[in-house]
Amino acid sequence: MSTTADLKARKAAAVAAGVSTRNVYVAKAENAEIWDVDGKRFIDFAAGIAVLNTGHRHPRVMEAVAQQALKFAHTCFHVTPYESYVRLAERLNALAPGDFAKKSIFLNSGAEAVENAIKIARYHTKRSAVIAFSGGFHGRTLMTMALTGKVMPYKRGFGPFPAEVYHAEFPQPYRGIGTEQALADLDRLFHGDVDPKSVAAVLIEPVQGEGGFNVAPADFLRELRRLCDEHGIVMIADEVQGGMARTGRMFSIEHSGVVPDLITVAKGLGGGFPLSGVIGRASIMDAAHPGGLGGTYGGNPISIAAAHAVLDVIEAEGLCARAAKLGDSMRARLVSLAKELPCIGDVRGLGAMVAFELVKDPNTKEPDAELTAAILAQAEARGLILLSCGTSANVVRLLAPLTIPDAVLAEGLDILGASVREACGRESKRAVA
Ligand SMILES: Cc1ncc(COP(=O)(O)O)c(C=O)c1O
Repeated sequence: MSTTADLKARKAAAVAAGVSTRNVYVAKAENAEIWDVDGKRFIDFAAGIAVLNTGHRHPRVMEAVAQQALKFAHTCFHVTPYESYVRLAERLNALAPGDFAKKSIFLNSGAEAVENAIKIARYHTKRSAVIAFSGGFHGRTLMTMALTGKVMPYKRGFGPFPAEVYHAEFPQPYRGIGTEQALADLDRLFHGDVDPKSVAAVLIEPVQGEGGFNVAPADFLRELRRLCDEHGIVMIADEVQGGMARTGRMFSIEHSGVVPDLITVAKGLGGGFPLSGVIGRASIMDAAHPGGLGGTYGGNPISIAAAHAVLDVIEAEGLCARAAKLGDSMRARLVSLAKELPCIGDVRGLGAMVAFELVKDPNTKEPDAELTAAILAQAEARGLILLSCGTSANVVRLLAPLTIPDAVLAEGLDILGASVREACGRESKRAVA
């Protein structure tokens, strides 16, 4: 079998440079652990970017996929539909917040779910403008790049983007932007840039993923809801990263009590198989004409079978409660590390979506992207896979599978602590020299 060194060289020669990768080439994976092609073991705090809430190869997910593969793997739902798609829509309609009739559609990626939510909102309102937020991430297709509020690495060089997309400030208490300032910015937008009566949708991640795990305060989400109601705007919660039990509730917006009109889901829904969806108010979801929504692979039967198993596992293994407990353990460890190390400026998140922000100086809060990269490299060398995020690439996020055993979590957090201490120590020595 190829070694990591061989594969890195072959990848550089054969795969487009825009597809960036880390250095761990996987040979096998189970629950919260990965073994690479050189036989080295890693603890996985990335979970395939928040996909494996139910862990690598959960036995119930694998069994459901194997059983489905024995029956049929693809027909295209538009050509010869199947019951499992309809039943998954029924299950998600029942799980999503809101005491009203709901309908769903299934697609392949998070970006495709967001694209479709915007199409649906535009068709329903007969309006074109869309408001998204600074630091938000919604995908790599043209419309979702336009909606994304983070230039590097997502937007540079790929324009022009579709028109009628506006960005408002996302609350970031650590950087002095509270609910009041964020609402003032929205007001500025409504008076200076776009008439609220031309706005089809407001799209928000209740907890920003790529943007740095900023949590939208409940009072901000409530006021957004009120403004959407006042102006006839569709409120869309992008739950692609924060959904599917990750934050301790099935959907992260449930913490606020706010009920959006549409919800986009992906990642954790398919348990490792490509699946996304839009769930929402039936009166809005039904706006588009037959044939206007869908695609060849959307709601592929294998992925749908995996999603049913994921929902069963979330319920049977109490993964919402588990997410809250994991989050408490991770936060406690990070808070005590932050007391010891001034380079950790902030610890934040919701449930098992926890992150810490690295700064050069706790007073100026100048982002420290180099230190963040050094922590990731240290962790990787010690056998822990971590991801960064944040518009300045200075936030480390923890996204362990919700099924991670306590002992593996403790081991991972020990490696994390050692990696942060080592990287912070090196950086401060460098600063003194
Ligand atoms: C909140 C959010 N929306 C949309 C997307 C895009 O999902 P995908 O990469 O599956 O297209 C992501 C991916 O990270 C995300 O975090």
